[in-house]
Amino acid sequence: MNRQAILIVDDDPSMRTVLSDFLGSRGYRVRASGNGTDGLETFHHEAFDAVVTDMKMPGMSGMDLLRGVKDISPHVPVVVMTAYGTVNTAVEAMKEGAEDFIMKPFSMDHLEAVVKKVLAAKPPGERGDQERPAGPGPGGSLSEGKKIVTGDPATMNLLETLKSVSRSRASVLIQGESGTGKELIARHIHRHSDRAHMPFIGVNCAAIPHNLLESEMFGHERGAFTGAARRRLGKFEMASGGTLLLDEISEMDMPLQAKLLRVIQESEVDRLGGGEPVPVDVRIIATTNADLKKRIEEKTFRSDLYYRLNVVPVKIPPLRERAGDIPLLSDYFLEKHSRFGTGEKPFLSNEASSLLNGHRWPGNVRELEHVIERAVLLCGGGEILPEHLCLEDEDGEKTQPAAVDLARSQGTTLRDMEKSLIFRTLERENGNRTRASEILGVSVRTIRNKLNEYKNETEGERQEAGAG
Ligand SMILES: Nc1ncnc2c1ncn2[C@@H]1O[C@H](COP(=O)(O)OP(=O)(O)OP(=O)(O)O)[C@@H](O)[C@H]1O
Ligand SMILES: [Mg+2]
Repeated sequence: MNRQAILIVDDDPSMRTVLSDFLGSRGYRVRASGNGTDGLETFHHEAFDAVVTDMKMPGMSGMDLLRGVKDISPHVPVVVMTAYGTVNTAVEAMKEGAEDFIMKPFSMDHLEAVVKKVLAAKPPGERGDQERPAGPGPGGSLSEGKKIVTGDPATMNLLETLKSVSRSRASVLIQGESGTGKELIARHIHRHSDRAHMPFIGVNCAAIPHNLLESEMFGHERGAFTGAARRRLGKFEMASGGTLLLDEISEMDMPLQAKLLRVIQESEVDRLGGGEPVPVDVRIIATTNADLKKRIEEKTFRSDLYYRLNVVPVKIPPLRERAGDIPLLSDYFLEKHSRFGTGEKPFLSNEASSLLNGHRWPGNVRELEHVIERAVLLCGGGEILPEHLCLEDEDGEKTQPAAVDLARSQGTTLRDMEKSLIFRTLERENGNRTRASEILGVSVRTIRNKLNEYKNETEGERQEAGAG
């Protein structure tokens, strides 16, 4: 048997013994060091498949050890152990390239799961890094938009389980409120499947009108209906060999549900107006934020389709039920969004942190990201205060964006500040008004109206100047 080697570094002798004995009993070859310097020395001379290290140690810290290990062998996964309540250290370590962290106290089963996970993510392939063609972007180790940040034990278990089911072709049904990360998980499943090099194609069943959805999914032959001037491939065929994401499956009407069921059962599609059925090999992942069981009772969703899709059920809890993720995600988004603009990473004041922790997050992770993104813009570097967060209160009332901050800046009117904020946001979003409106928490119409106002003003000024 090919025994994988693990280096354990911890200054606590009893911890070393426990960890060594346990991992040894699980079939790993284990070496243990009592400090970072010795650990790095050992790592230098022997080959290891993974490193598990304590963070807080006298002499060389776990962070320095981590850097040393990554300098020598960037692909050997490192798991750091941190004390309860030191999430920041864990986040720092992840940024420095640690693959995962475990919060003390932890169970041996959890340790084993994490070690297994990081080992499984290692070569062959080292996909994570090679996927990006041009090397890491600015800021390095955070893989843009793809990383799933969580410290929630249930979610971590879920990701772990998903790794093994990813490899099968089994259909997955992901249920969760809006913004909880359903698409992110779907992509994660695809990335960990043996279809990763094949297409990942999405169809949003809610966004496409019913009468067009069928041809969108199954394609059509030339002349299949008025306007079908050419033959068109459906998403099923495009996804062939890969994964098809059926987003918001609850919005599909009953007749189409019946057709979908047939396609899943027969593994072939009928193009609209077409002759022979076309064989397709597609892995289906469906998502919904509706309660499908209820839809079945209401007779708007087919139960046979439900069971076909729900082979691997995945439920993502809303953010408010995993509040421990709020600080982790906040930090991640702070880092992500401060890389634009000044590049300096702002930090959350204690008050701002507790507001974030206490918020109900009806829009879940997406809402949190927008709030942080906006706060980074509003605070102008340095400290993020409660007024930069513009959280909706219990009645759904939005606090005025940074009213306090605006009032504080002497010599500028509220209007000027607002104008410059809108322009700055638009500039950063390449003129995309929808994105800007999301960030600023106003409607697209408001932005449009404001821009018209500014335009009229400028024209007015120009005319005055011309007349004078
Ligand atoms: N655990 C996470 N770590 C990092 N980013 C996350 C996480 N969960 C969600 N996000 C981010 O939040 C945003 C919303 O996620 P996603 O689009 O996957 O949600 P969704 O459940 O599909 O939402 P909807 O129901 O509205 O379609 C994305 O930008 C995603 O990258
Ligand atoms: Mg989605």
